[in-house]
Amino acid sequence: MKTPIVDFVRAYAEKEMLRFHMPGHKGKPFLSPEPYDITEIQGADALYEASGIIRESERNAASLFGTLDTFYSTEGSSQVIRAMLYLAALYARKRKGAGRFRVLAARNVHKSFLYACAALDAEISWLPGDADASLLSIRTTKAKLLETLEKTEILPDAVFVTSPDYPGSIQDIRGFSEVLRPLHIPLLVDDAHGAYLHFLETPAHPMDLGADLCADSAHKTLPALTGCAYLHIGENAAFPEMSRFFKENAKQALAFFGSTSPSYLLLQSLDLVNAYLDGPYREKLAAFVKEADAVKSCLDAAGFTLFGEEPLKLTLLTLPYGYTGEEMAEILRACKIECEFADRECIVFMLTPENGRGELCALEKALLSVGKRAALLPEKAVLPPYRPALSVREAFLLPSRRVPVEEAVGRIAGPVSVSCPPAVPVVISGEVITEAHLPLLRRYGVIALPVAETAAEEEKSSFSAD
Ligand SMILES: Cc1ncc(COP(=O)(O)O)c(C=O)c1O
Repeated sequence: MKTPIVDFVRAYAEKEMLRFHMPGHKGKPFLSPEPYDITEIQGADALYEASGIIRESERNAASLFGTLDTFYSTEGSSQVIRAMLYLAALYARKRKGAGRFRVLAARNVHKSFLYACAALDAEISWLPGDADASLLSIRTTKAKLLETLEKTEILPDAVFVTSPDYPGSIQDIRGFSEVLRPLHIPLLVDDAHGAYLHFLETPAHPMDLGADLCADSAHKTLPALTGCAYLHIGENAAFPEMSRFFKENAKQALAFFGSTSPSYLLLQSLDLVNAYLDGPYREKLAAFVKEADAVKSCLDAAGFTLFGEEPLKLTLLTLPYGYTGEEMAEILRACKIECEFADRECIVFMLTPENGRGELCALEKALLSVGKRAALLPEKAVLPPYRPALSVREAFLLPSRRVPVEEAVGRIAGPVSVSCPPAVPVVISGEVITEAHLPLLRRYGVIALPVAETAAEEEKSSFSAD
C-alpha cells in the first residue's frame, strides 16, 4: 500500500530546503524527528480541508477498515469522541429542528464524553448496567437497551457505548445496532482500545458489527505515535442519508475540536500504519492472540482471576490472589515490567504483537513467581443513582472551587475531575455528590474535586468567611 504522506515528507527533507516556515526548529534535529516535522507547505495538503496526500491516505485507511469513510485525528480518540457527538447533534438538529440534543450512554464513559456534552449542552441519560460491575466496566445488554427505549417518552438522538472498555470487556454492538437501526438512532462507539479488532480472524470491530460512528485510538493497540486516532463512518443501509451526512460533515466536526496545527509526524505515523496493516499483520495478530490465550490459560490454571474477553488485554482481579493491584504492579516493576493500570482491585496489561512471544513469556514468568496469599476482601463501591441538579454545561460554565471529597457531600459536582488513566468520571458534572459516592471516589484516588459555585454555595462560603 502507498504511503503518500511519508513519501512527500521524506522527499521534502531530502531536498534540504531552507525552511522559512513553521515549526521554529526549522528541521534541525533537537529531539531527532524534526526534519520530518513540517507544516502545511505547498503539496502537503491540510488535515481539515484534505484533498491531496492526506485524503488519499485516509481513503487507504477506509479501505483497510472496510468503512464508508475514515478520517484522521492527531489528538486522540478524545477529539474523535467530541466530533462524533457533534455530528450526532447536528444530524438531530437537521432531522428534528431546534431542541436539546439527547444522548443515552453506558455510564463508563471517558471524560471527553462529558466535555462534548458540555460543549453541546447535551442531556444525558444512562443505560442501566450490571449492578455489581466496577465503574470502568459497566456491562449493558441488548435487552436492557430495548427496555430503556420502550420506557422512554422521548427517544434519544444517539446512543453512546464504550467497547472494549478499559479493563477489556466487550459490549454487544451487533445487538445494539439491531435495536437502533429501525429507530433511526445512530450508534456511537468509543472503540479507543479496539482498533485492531477488524484484523482478527473473525473481524469483531464495532464497524463490522453495525456501529454508525466509531472512535479508534490507533496509538493504543497499533504501532502508531501517541495521539494518532481514527473517526470511522459506517454505511447505514436503512438510513444512507444519515451516513452521507456524517461523512460530509466529519472534517468540520473534527476541526471544531482540533488544533489548527495538526502534527505531520502523527499523520506520517497513521500513513505508515496503513502499510503495516496491509502487510502480514493479520497473520502476526492471529499468532500473537493464540500465544496470549495460552498465557491467560496458564495464569487461570495457576489460580489468577482473569477479567474481560478482549484478546489483547490481560486484566487480573488481584484481591482473590491476596494482593492489591498496586502491590502486584510494584512486584512486577522490580522485574522491569510496567503495567498499563493498577488500582486496589485489578491490574491491566495491554498486549500487542510488538511485545512478541519473548516479552509475553517474561510477563507470564514474573506473574507465576508471585506466591498466592489469603484472599483480600473487595470494598463495596456501588454507583449511586444519577441525580443531576444542573446540566453538564451549566456545571462547566459556573466557577468552581476544589474541596476535599468529604466536604463535597451535598454539593454539586463542577467540571470533570478524574485522572487519566482510566479517566472515567466517578461523579458527573452537575450531579449532587452524596455519601454514597465516597467509596468510589476513594477507590479511584480522588481526594479533592471541584464543586460548582452556585449562588447558594457563594452564600454559604461568604457566611463562613464572616
Ligand atoms: C475508553 C477510552 N476512551 C477514550 C480514550 C481517549 O483516547 P485518546 O488517549 O486517544 O484521546 C481513552 C484513553 O485512555 C480511553 O481509555
